[in-house]
Amino acid sequence: MKLIVGNQKSYLSSTEIDIFIEKLSNIQRKDNVLICPSSIYIDRFVSSGFVTGCQNVSKYKSGAYTGELSVEQIKSVGVSFAIVGHSEVRKNFNESIIDTNTKIIRLLDEEIVPILCVGESKEERDEGRAKDIVLEQIEGAFEDLSPDLVKKVLIAYEPIWAIGTGEIPTNDDIQDMVSSIKEYLIDNYDVSGIILYGGSVNNENIDELNEIDNIDGYLIGGASTKVYEFLQIIDKCEN
Ligand code: PGA
Repeated sequence: MKLIVGNQKSYLSSTEIDIFIEKLSNIQRKDNVLICPSSIYIDRFVSSGFVTGCQNVSKYKSGAYTGELSVEQIKSVGVSFAIVGHSEVRKNFNESIIDTNTKIIRLLDEEIVPILCVGESKEERDEGRAKDIVLEQIEGAFEDLSPDLVKKVLIAYEPIWAIGTGEIPTNDDIQDMVSSIKEYLIDNYDVSGIILYGGSVNNENIDELNEIDNIDGYLIGGASTKVYEFLQIIDKCEN
């Protein structure tokens, strides 16, 4: 069964979240479905029995950091996963690979599972550098991590040009990238790795994506905010 992670970004109002939770509550016991809502709604998902994640976390421990969510805080409300290194955070908030590495270490210290996002730009893909870029990102994000810790991190391969655009790589290209990531993890850490694909996953392309045999799940943005579409995707990933 595939792992399905919904990244709801800054979408959905309070009322829409209530509707979403109500409609999704029949699958709430499925532990392969994980929702990363806006942080103001985390409590509602946790108390409704969902496995809940955070979309980002502070690189600082805790203290005078206005607007930041510390790892200790997210742990205290029942969050068990956190996305780190999302390309929107790298771009809009200048997250460096060193920041991503710090966040991963802080999360692992508190036993929260990091979901590390990696991916190339269109230009990098066109120049034939996609694999180098992705493996470089992983190398930087895993700096100083032992194999035992690397084993606990999920990796989401999200080509930047596929996020929110409706454009996705071919199955062969995804399969090829996922194989390279898995090979890299085996060669460097002797760890097999859990790899998700993200970028414009929707109800229309999910059947075709499910034909790729080496991916372990999906990181779903836009389509995770539309409850009926999300339910259909979950359904199609049952096997
Ligand atoms: P998308 O977003 O599914 O809307 O392309 C994916 C993501 O940003 O994680």
